[in-house]
Amino acid sequence: MSRIPDSFIDDLLRRVDIVDVVNRRVPLKRSGKEYSACCPFHDEKTPSFTVSEQKQFYHCFGCGAHGSAIRFLMEYDGLGFVDSINDLAQLVGMEVPREAGETHQPAREKTSPLYDLLEQANNYYRRQLREHPAAATAVEYLKNRGVSGEIAGRFEVGFAPPGWDSLSKALSETQPTLLLDAGLTSQSEQGSYYDRLRERITFPIRDQRGRVVGFGGRLLDGDGPKYLNSPETAVFHKGEELYGLYQLQQVQRQPAHVVVVEGYLDVIALAQFGATYAVAALGTALTVDHIRKLYRVTQKLVLCFDGDRAGRKAAERSLENLLPHMQEGRQADFLFLPDGDDPDTFIRREELAGFEAQISNAEPLSQFLFTYLRRDCDLTTLDGKARLAENAQPWIAKIPDGFFKQLIRQELQQLTGVDLPERDPPPARPATRRPTSTEPTPPANPSRVLRKAFVFLLQQPDLAQRISTETLTRLADRDQAGFDLFRRLAGHFQASTTASISLFMDQLESSQEAAALTRLLQHSAPPGDSKAWTEEFDNLLSDLTGAIHKTRGRLGDHKRQRLNTLIAKLTSAGLDEKEKTELRQLQEAHRGRSKQPR
Ligand code: UTP
Ligand code: MN
Repeated sequence: MSRIPDSFIDDLLRRVDIVDVVNRRVPLKRSGKEYSACCPFHDEKTPSFTVSEQKQFYHCFGCGAHGSAIRFLMEYDGLGFVDSINDLAQLVGMEVPREAGETHQPAREKTSPLYDLLEQANNYYRRQLREHPAAATAVEYLKNRGVSGEIAGRFEVGFAPPGWDSLSKALSETQPTLLLDAGLTSQSEQGSYYDRLRERITFPIRDQRGRVVGFGGRLLDGDGPKYLNSPETAVFHKGEELYGLYQLQQVQRQPAHVVVVEGYLDVIALAQFGATYAVAALGTALTVDHIRKLYRVTQKLVLCFDGDRAGRKAAERSLENLLPHMQEGRQADFLFLPDGDDPDTFIRREELAGFEAQISNAEPLSQFLFTYLRRDCDLTTLDGKARLAENAQPWIAKIPDGFFKQLIRQELQQLTGVDLPERDPPPARPATRRPTSTEPTPPANPSRVLRKAFVFLLQQPDLAQRISTETLTRLADRDQAGFDLFRRLAGHFQASTTASISLFMDQLESSQEAAALTRLLQHSAPPGDSKAWTEEFDNLLSDLTGAIHKTRGRLGDHKRQRLNTLIAKLTSAGLDEKEKTELRQLQEAHRGRSKQPR
């Protein structure tokens, strides 16, 4: 959508000090080269949250949270990407430029009149609930449902009066098209505008920053859909917003858990009875964006469903979106209420204690997943066990590597008796033949070489320019932990030598990778000057690509690579005696396949 030039983001991150940004929100203590604190993103007693002043990123070894100052604001303040950048830019007095020729205006600028308008509409609806003669039935209805005045106030419940143009008239100074853009009115086939919500109880939907972005409207009685929600607008995206999230974060920024329910009145009833940690998706299934947003706020989700068949179906549908987000430290439980109840009716009868008992008895995701997977597998038969193992594979593949995945594998193993590999099968092992004396010995341990290459690249991002496309492709071929990360990091630095590591961290979904990088960054700079580094780095690269081909049994490629390195070195820095001998031997072996060095 909106496009802020990458160069600006680089620049911004160079001027902002992440230590300062974090420290204003989470007091930091200096420890060695870094700063640390108890992690604001999960519960802990001893600090595992670190902030690097030098590299301008944060990382928690406990929960895996990581990223730049931009991501920190997104996660801690609950801001969107653009808003985080705006806030940081303001902090250091920079103006956020927009890329020219952009068809989409940045959401914020273009839509700012909508926010204002929606706020006015909200005030109008709230006033009508108190003042409009027709509101009596609405007030009566809310009373009958047990909604207290206090809670109605907190959630800003209002009333859209009957009539086609009550709101339009009240906001007559506003351009009619703007009301339409805000989703407040609809347009008839004849082209005339009319109020979208009429004779309904209104529930304003606020985004995480507290801006009204839309409304839900409940029918009192009569015909029509029970609920009418705002349509998709420039500021309202059903798949991203969660009703009650703003109110929840007013109470607690990072709650221990968030309960996800279905309805507006569920959220409200729960809050009234003290369960101030519920949100609702707006008449849609939980989307990936919802899940991402929620896991920035808490480590534990409790998905609450009705106890009937429809509820179980809905729960099953959420599995697919949930599994890819089950990183280390995260939890998701499934709560099925007794048949016939929804959270609203349940808490009114059983009160907070009853509801919280349900929460603590909720099914962990792993349990629910297995119940689902084995639903028509008879585990007393071999055939049934095999089918379960087979059913489970694609689901397990969705889970990121880590403890949770391991747990699921173990459980599956127990249920089926099928021996499963610890991880996905490794690439073919090297052929057992030994290198002959003319072949340079490939490194015994590619991961040590890789680690060194990482340290060089992290200390001196310019080195990325020395990695050819061919080498990158070869690195990508290697599906061993670390190689892909190295390739992506190299690509990141190649795109811009001034690109910051913290921005790269922002794009990492895997907390394991973030932890690995954080550790690598703690290595001190290798000895020598930049020329020595360059040479050493080239050698590491050829070792790496050589190692890859060695393990694949394609020795020719390795030799050629080494040959190229030696030739490059000969023309740049010269060779020592040992290298000259090696070069001669290689040339012998490859005569006719490589050019003579000048
Ligand atoms: P429910 O039908 O479960 O209703 O809809 P509810 O929340 O229990 O409402 P009450 O208690 O009867 O007042 C759950 C959610 O689905 C969406 C709304 O977001 C609602 O809160 N929904 C429902 C719609 O968008 N349109 C509808 O017609 C019905
Ligand atoms: Mn209900």
